[in-house]
Amino acid sequence: MGLGDPPNQMEILRIQGGTHLEGEVQVGGSKNAALPQFAAALLSEEETILENVPDLSDVRFMGEILHHLGASVERVGKNTWKIKPTNIQPNAPYELVRKMRASICLLGPLVARLKKAKIPMPGGCVIGHRPIDLHLLALEDMGALVSLNQGVVEVDGHDMRPCTIFIGGRHGSTVTGTANAIMASVLTDGLTTLDGAACEPEIVDLCEMLTKMGAKIKGAGSHKLTIEGVKNLHGCTHRVIPDRIEGATYILAGAITRGKLNIKGILTNQLGAFTKVMRESGVNLNPLGDDMLEVTTTSEELNPFEIITLPYPGFPTDLQAQACAFACTIPGLSILTERIYPSRFMHIPELLRMGAKVSVEGPNAIVRGGKRLNGAPVMASDLRASAALILAGLVADGETWLHRLYHLDRGYEALDKKLRNLGAEVERLPESSLPHSFRSPLD
Ligand code: EPU
Repeated sequence: MGLGDPPNQMEILRIQGGTHLEGEVQVGGSKNAALPQFAAALLSEEETILENVPDLSDVRFMGEILHHLGASVERVGKNTWKIKPTNIQPNAPYELVRKMRASICLLGPLVARLKKAKIPMPGGCVIGHRPIDLHLLALEDMGALVSLNQGVVEVDGHDMRPCTIFIGGRHGSTVTGTANAIMASVLTDGLTTLDGAACEPEIVDLCEMLTKMGAKIKGAGSHKLTIEGVKNLHGCTHRVIPDRIEGATYILAGAITRGKLNIKGILTNQLGAFTKVMRESGVNLNPLGDDMLEVTTTSEELNPFEIITLPYPGFPTDLQAQACAFACTIPGLSILTERIYPSRFMHIPELLRMGAKVSVEGPNAIVRGGKRLNGAPVMASDLRASAALILAGLVADGETWLHRLYHLDRGYEALDKKLRNLGAEVERLPESSLPHSFRSPLD
């Protein structure tokens, strides 16, 4: 079927710093909306068509997992997928699941449709401890029997019943936990209430898709959702929302290079606290119509800033690393506090290699910005760290080589191509083209 090409572990990105980016860039579909929507397609036997799906390795993995579960999965265009899960089985394979944490959101749909699921527990994650206790507690609250056998979560949902679930945790609401609880309850007869639900735009988009499939959900976008179970869901055609994190990353690319960008397809009403922080820091954000944003920045206007990552509409943790790179270029003291994943600072040792002045104290990164960055070979540790290091490379003196590019390809569609169209000097190279001493030791 060829749904998931293996990530190319042997490529690096060469970035020549020093260009002010200029031009127009199109934002693609949201990764974190598309992944649970692939899972949601399993809730009906009928065909679902998803449009505006980003072309990413995580999405292709999800397609492969659905195929393994028995669904017919067809990519009918670069960004359109057809999923027909007439007959499916409940066991997800460890080889695929371990590559992508988001596969945990298959739990809800499988339990709802088949009354059972077997999904390997996601393992360690470089951005910090990411338990799934809230996902499992929600299912248990609904009467499911949950057990862990040899690393596999097994759920028996034959006696599921509606109830009121508090789904918040120590760090606030859980995004994929909320998605799972919604999907587990849409086919459960009676009224289920979720208190402390996540209200991220990706959850709202999931609710819209499920509503098209015939689900009855009230309160999407708030912390309280009520779901009235229905007997069956049908297929639908749904267009995935634009990726707010990708859009905001381009805002930061414009800002860090002191460029002038028009960002097309961005939904500015989904940027929450990010917009406020950018404006306070002196980045000019000028909406041009409904889905275009002009970004202009000059060095003289910029101020250091403070952020605290929080659930939506707070400052997203998925932009903390990129904002950290930006702060490195602004004279003065910026403070970035990470409240969702308190140790998500793997980008910082790499920024230090480029001459940044950043210290980490507990969940705080303290940036002494304004010193010029120097290009260096750096290692991506995760998706957002990759984006942060590319942003830093765009303004560094000389060349930056980013290793482990497969992290980037999980979540940014054609970032290098889009940056090149804006005037950046970036190119993918086979790692084998580097002198031996510069190759990544672990790849
Ligand atoms: N948490 C628990 N128990 C749980 C679930 C979560 O304690 O059962 C904690 C987490 O450890 C974290 C907080 O709750 O401290 C929030 O985690 P959440 O469950 O919301 O994260 P997620 O659903 O696993 C999604 C995104 C992440 C994004 C987070 C936070 C997807 C596929 N992933 O993860 O995206 O960082 O929400 O907004 O939607 C990324 O795109 O780079 C990425 C990591």
